[in-house]
Amino acid sequence: MPDVPIDLGSALDIVVERLAAAQHVVVLTGAGVSAESGLPTFRDALTGHWAHRRPEELATATGFADDPEYVQAWYRSRLREARYHAPNAGHLALADLQRRVPRLTLVTQNVDGFHQKAGSTGVLELHGNLESGWCFDCGAAKPLDDNDAPVHCDACDGYIRPGVVWFGEALPVDALFAALAAAEACDVLLAVGTSGVVYPAASLPGRARQAGAFVAEINPVPSALSDEMDALLTGPGGTVLPELVRRLNRLQTAA
Ligand code: OAD
Repeated sequence: MPDVPIDLGSALDIVVERLAAAQHVVVLTGAGVSAESGLPTFRDALTGHWAHRRPEELATATGFADDPEYVQAWYRSRLREARYHAPNAGHLALADLQRRVPRLTLVTQNVDGFHQKAGSTGVLELHGNLESGWCFDCGAAKPLDDNDAPVHCDACDGYIRPGVVWFGEALPVDALFAALAAAEACDVLLAVGTSGVVYPAASLPGRARQAGAFVAEINPVPSALSDEMDALLTGPGGTVLPELVRRLNRLQTAA
């Protein structure tokens, strides 16, 4: 963590100066960026996605094979949540930030599609997307829907699984390589709303810093990554990100 505690206003100004001078910015987001949209994060002990179930039951191929109806119903309910909630001020600020810097690569662990809905482009989805899906048995592509009934394959009647990355599965290679390359080439990396415990996504801030980038975290509480940060912007994304963009705008218009 930074040696000297600094207040949020000073930390924001430090990050804004870095953003104003940056040619390439990387933003890594996690479930926390969607919390203010009303979507639960994963690891909140009381309200999180996994508050009452073990991750192995819900986010592994073995869990799906054991109880496809239950696990598919859980993902259909998450799809419903994603469809019936909207991006918040944090997502919108990130889309705005992309228009204010020469290059911004947005890397997300989220599967809700909110960054795209907010207007961000070229989003690298490391953990897939809830809107896609394929047959657990034969692999034929078919999206889930958000109804109450189980979704079956048109070809073999198997259960459709969600197009998200489960524990033990490989990340989409193209998105992962593009994210690693961006982290190693950027001037500034912002880690927003992630606990920083799931790899390889959690390795991106460290790689960026090692390659010379300035790295900052936006989170109401410290994460597993806080010690690697140059600056901590302590607060919710829906407040801190719009303020960051407001200050950047002020600096850019004054210049
Ligand atoms: P977690 O649930 O592990 O962490 C959410 C983080 O968001 C925590 O650090 C919270 O403190 C922070 N947070 C909460 N409210 C916030 C707010 N309003 N603004 C900013 N931050 C806030 O979620 P992830 O780090 O995304 O993967 O989890 C990583 C991966 O673990 C997920 O993508 C998922 C899971 O395994 C897969 O399903 C493959």
